[in-house]
Amino acid sequence: MQEQLNAIIASVRDQAPKINTRADFESFKATISGPKGSLTSVMKLMGQVPKEDKPAMGKCINEAKTVIVAELDAVLERIEQAELAAKLGPAIDPSLPGVDPNRGILHPIAQVREEMVHLFQRIGFSVAEATEVDTEHFCFDALNIPADHPARDMQDSYYLPHERSVGNVQKNADEKYLLRTHTSTVQIRTMLKEKPPIRIIAPGRCFRRDTPDATHSANFHQIEGLYVDRDVSLLDLKATLDHFVKTIFGSKAKTRLRPSFFPFTEPSFEMDFYSPDLGKLSNKWLEIMGCGMVDPEVFKSVGIDPKAYTGFAFGMGIERIAMILQGVDDIRYYYQNDVRFLKQFA
Ligand code: DAH
Repeated sequence: MQEQLNAIIASVRDQAPKINTRADFESFKATISGPKGSLTSVMKLMGQVPKEDKPAMGKCINEAKTVIVAELDAVLERIEQAELAAKLGPAIDPSLPGVDPNRGILHPIAQVREEMVHLFQRIGFSVAEATEVDTEHFCFDALNIPADHPARDMQDSYYLPHERSVGNVQKNADEKYLLRTHTSTVQIRTMLKEKPPIRIIAPGRCFRRDTPDATHSANFHQIEGLYVDRDVSLLDLKATLDHFVKTIFGSKAKTRLRPSFFPFTEPSFEMDFYSPDLGKLSNKWLEIMGCGMVDPEVFKSVGIDPKAYTGFAFGMGIERIAMILQGVDDIRYYYQNDVRFLKQFA
């Protein structure tokens, strides 16, 4: 009997390495321990063994069984490992950087806004903000914009219904709320809060009832600048804006101030610039902002003494700068959220 058991063990050891699937394993196992299996038939012989030999035989069978079960368990374990490995696929190195599906970027308008903000921060301007909903007073009156100015027309601006209340923006009973038409509101709100010297830039969203076309959008962005101190001169304005243009558009860029009119600056200018490195737009004067020396009437509206202080202000559209820098010829691309467009600025 011991010989038969040894033979079974030998055949298990011989076959084990060749068994690679669960099905093969099950059928092989059946040939050992199934109803007609070799081990089962040896165990059946126990019935015929004389009583006194039974303990010794039983011991032999149990020992053989332990060996066989261990061999079969090892085979099953190997098969399970292989199945798991097949499920997991090829080995990976988890320390490698992952596949990047589509990393987000700042919107191209925000990219240009950040560049402009950082540039002014480096020369001592800090960022000021105010609400997008404001009152007629802050959008117009305090900026010396007269009642008959076209910007105040219902058709030019977005007014809110009379009954609407905006908790964090105070207004007089007889005036209306509107979506600010420019960031110049921030000049007034800052001068009411802070004493000179004041040196701020105010990036933000503005709204006008423009019919959208390649260069107009009802929603757009501006950056406002304001510098108020003793003895601020036109030279300071020119030098600051020259620095801005040369930093953004390259050191070969040139600027010029053209006389213009804004109710809140006197004198007022449009600033143009010209650069040899702008592709299709090279060597043409391009208008990029309005600017001027703060009008004494504006100082009076915020309680700053115009005899003691002077200041300059400027305001420009961020989209305009972005379009020139990024070679975009239609402002509407910026608002369509077309990933094919946006991806180009990654
Ligand atoms: N607020 C003006 C506009 O939206 C732009 C502007 C012009 C701003 C001259 C200024 C300035 O601060 O001094 O058209």
